Amino acid sequence: MALQDRERSDSREIGSSSMVSEITEPRYPTERQPAICIIMMPRDTNPLGTIFGGVILFHIDMSAAIEGHRYHAGRLVTVAMDQVVFKQPVFDGDLVSFFTETVRIGKTSVTVKVSVWAKRHSTAQTFIHVTEALVTMVAVDDQFKKVTIHKHS
Ligand SMILES: CC(C)(COP(=O)(O)OP(=O)(O)OC[C@H]1O[C@@H](n2cnc3c(N)ncnc32)[C@H](O)[C@@H]1OP(=O)(O)O)[C@@H](O)C(=O)NCCC(=O)NCCS
Repeated sequence: MALQDRERSDSREIGSSSMVSEITEPRYPTERQPAICIIMMPRDTNPLGTIFGGVILFHIDMSAAIEGHRYHAGRLVTVAMDQVVFKQPVFDGDLVSFFTETVRIGKTSVTVKVSVWAKRHSTAQTFIHVTEALVTMVAVDDQFKKVTIHKHS
């Protein structure tokens, strides 16, 4: 469905992607550019030597915001982040990419799927699927009251 059709209904799903709960084997999106691509640093590690989950969650939230602002010019606040399961660890030096896809635009909210892939520092050509999340953001005014999503002019 074209984005212009958004005004015709309060909500709909868009894009080819299914929701996270559907069981499919993740595939590295070679044809797309990530919203964020970042090398993990020693400051991001926990005492076990792996990256803090919270660091990945931060970048998931930021990636979703970048995607969400493609559709809404004003303030967006995160209301929910669903089903974040870390399937693989991330290490210091890994190049981590956050791919985004808008899966739903509602009356006041936009939901973005964020898919996280790591390229190991040690094995440069191997992409490892780390996790994915559904992030829902709500458009709010300067009083933090929800408002209708409106597209950029
Ligand atoms: C976001 C907020 C304004 C929503 O207010 P509300 O009156 O409770 O909103 P509603 O329950 O009517 O839901 C608003 C939209 O969010 C969606 N939503 C609400 N809770 C949700 C959830 N748990 N999961 C997915 N979507 C959700 C609703 O479906 C609705 O979408 P739609 O209008 O596109 O159909 C309010 O909860 C808030 O201010 N939360 C804090 C946000 C924040 O500060 N985030 C940063 C945390 S540090």
